[in-house]
Amino acid sequence: MQNELSHISSLVGSDAGVKYSKSEQRPECGEYFDFHHIEFWVSNAFQAKMFYETHLGFKTIAYAGLETGEKNFTAYVLRGDQACIVVKSPLHPNDEIIAPFVKEHGDAVRDVAFNVEDVQKTFEHAKANGAEVILSPTYSEDEHGQVLIASVLAYGDTVHSFIQREQYRGLFLPGFHPIEPNLVNGFAESLPPVPMGRIDHVVANQPQGKMNEVVDFYINSLCFRRFWSVDDKLLQTGTSGLNSIVVSDFDERIKIPVNQPSTRFDGRSQTQEFVDFHGCGGIQHIAICVENLEQTVRSLKARGCYVLPVPSAYYDELQSAIFENDLDLGISLETMRELDIVVDYDDKGFILQIFTRPVESRPTLFFEFMQRNNHDGFGAGNFKSLFSAIEAQQKIRGTL
Ligand SMILES: [Fe+2]
Repeated sequence: MQNELSHISSLVGSDAGVKYSKSEQRPECGEYFDFHHIEFWVSNAFQAKMFYETHLGFKTIAYAGLETGEKNFTAYVLRGDQACIVVKSPLHPNDEIIAPFVKEHGDAVRDVAFNVEDVQKTFEHAKANGAEVILSPTYSEDEHGQVLIASVLAYGDTVHSFIQREQYRGLFLPGFHPIEPNLVNGFAESLPPVPMGRIDHVVANQPQGKMNEVVDFYINSLCFRRFWSVDDKLLQTGTSGLNSIVVSDFDERIKIPVNQPSTRFDGRSQTQEFVDFHGCGGIQHIAICVENLEQTVRSLKARGCYVLPVPSAYYDELQSAIFENDLDLGISLETMRELDIVVDYDDKGFILQIFTRPVESRPTLFFEFMQRNNHDGFGAGNFKSLFSAIEAQQKIRGTL
């Protein structure tokens, strides 16, 4: 319990929370392989792709729009190693699909799409267990092959698509063409490359009282299970707090922390701030796991990516924690301080993390970059330092 107490009284903590054991039996709804892509609905896909290329180091690989025969939207597909994002915006003044979404939420995540073994099976299970259907299983094809896609509503206006593409050899999905050479962002190409990796998790923030309902949706409709949880006794700064339950698929390839604000504090937590500005439950951050976080952050900073500043006191306390716990983090304290890297650890390993500032005009969506070293937590020990840093920004915004 010594660690729990140090969590609350100091900025530096070690990992805590409840880890759930895995059931022996594989569920009936087929295997989840990975995050396939995350799709953002935005007001201007061209400018969004320039932002993600220039400041975060993604590379555009495919495009759909008027030039490819697409009449209703423009979309760019961007990749950073295995992490794939799509930015899509409407073409017409009377658009009734993307435009109302953007009006309500601002530029935001619409779809967290999974690469699955059997779309039909996953979809039928979800539908039979209460999921609202957005798209029934539909084949789509071009000269590179065929894919099967289905979608269900998750929460708010966020959906989950299931994609089965073992026969497909194209760059992304049917209808998308390789990017034209004249649309390559030469400026972004001239900047230091950003080593990325795979999407580790996405965080789904919910309004107060909705967390368990959303967790039940993942368990009952999508065959996920509880992976880990932590409550507002630990996740609090004294001003605000939250509760979090992480759900995962059976094979632990997809992990989604589901958060809701705590009612025990007077301050408006970043979870509540997200819900207030997004308008409902939705995706607050996307975490990308990298091999060498120092290298990734140096490139991000060189590219003008705004990283959340960590209070200097954090590193003063970390110095003592490193000494007391004999921690070898493979990175110097000076470098961590310089790059705003934080660490969470237990007796077996650690994670290094950085968080970007919100990447939208509203204080909603941001990115996390993380390096895991024999540690499968989510940075609970960093909560106080992260929330304190965010609360400093909220004070400036007048939203605390
Ligand atoms: Fe995270």
